[in-house]
Amino acid sequence: MSELNLILLGPPGAGKGTQADRLSEDFSLPHISTGDILRAQVADGTELGRKAKSYMDAGDLVPDDVIIGMIVDRLGEGDARDGFLLDGFPRNEQQADALGTALVGLDRRLTAALLIDVPDEDVVRRLAGRRVCVLNPSHIYHVDFDPPKHADVCDQDGARLIQRDDDREETIRHRLEVYHGQTEPLIAYYDRAGLLRRFDGRRSADEVHGHLRAAVATLRLEDTL
Ligand code: AP5
Repeated sequence: MSELNLILLGPPGAGKGTQADRLSEDFSLPHISTGDILRAQVADGTELGRKAKSYMDAGDLVPDDVIIGMIVDRLGEGDARDGFLLDGFPRNEQQADALGTALVGLDRRLTAALLIDVPDEDVVRRLAGRRVCVLNPSHIYHVDFDPPKHADVCDQDGARLIQRDDDREETIRHRLEVYHGQTEPLIAYYDRAGLLRRFDGRRSADEVHGHLRAAVATLRLEDTL
């Protein structure tokens, strides 16, 4: 059977989580978001969460030794054995190398790196207006672009919507600097490997989804030929 081992690349607020939620349903893939895993660890007050919190609040990357082991373990879990959709990992070249090594060890390979490209000005507007469900962080809204039916209430489960701690303007700008300095070089990294696919993230969420879904369906088909 063909395997879809995918990563989503793009700046903060590009729409990675929004699209990952949809693609995971389209292709029955587990959506593995490092940000969501870390926020759950912070909320549970675990040792890992305590280590990660100050970095996340500042908009800096959590150290690689914390992240890499966490993701390698996650990829070995049952639901990820036939494919996965990674959102927020890798974030730098060390993490990308570690992912490559882990996949070789599992006798698997990456299918593609899907880049959702959005300029910095759009990122700030998107993140400043983002609201997420307190119960399920993959339920994502925007006060202007994708408002819930009732203000501050999740359409899907009726829970309260909240603003993320790192969605303050100053922290958003720092996250963008971190993205350009550390994560953007992965675009060239995956391009050199012939794995990069680019998508215009300025379009509406439905349009971006349509393009991503068509591209992933083609990748799956090519893999079975
Ligand atoms: P993480 O949670 O991964 O944050 P991020 O990469 O900054 O991405 P976001 O979740 O902010 O944005 P998104 O692209 O998912 O956009 P969304 O779909 O929500 O990481 C948080 C922190 O954890 C990091 O800063 C770091 O500290 C740590 N961390 C995580 N992974 C790490 C790693 N590998 N290594 C080290 N540290 C790590 O959309 C945003 C908004 O826009 C929403 O309101 C949405 O409704 C709206 N929207 C979406 N699409 C559209 C569209 N097409 N048009 C208009 N609005 C749209």
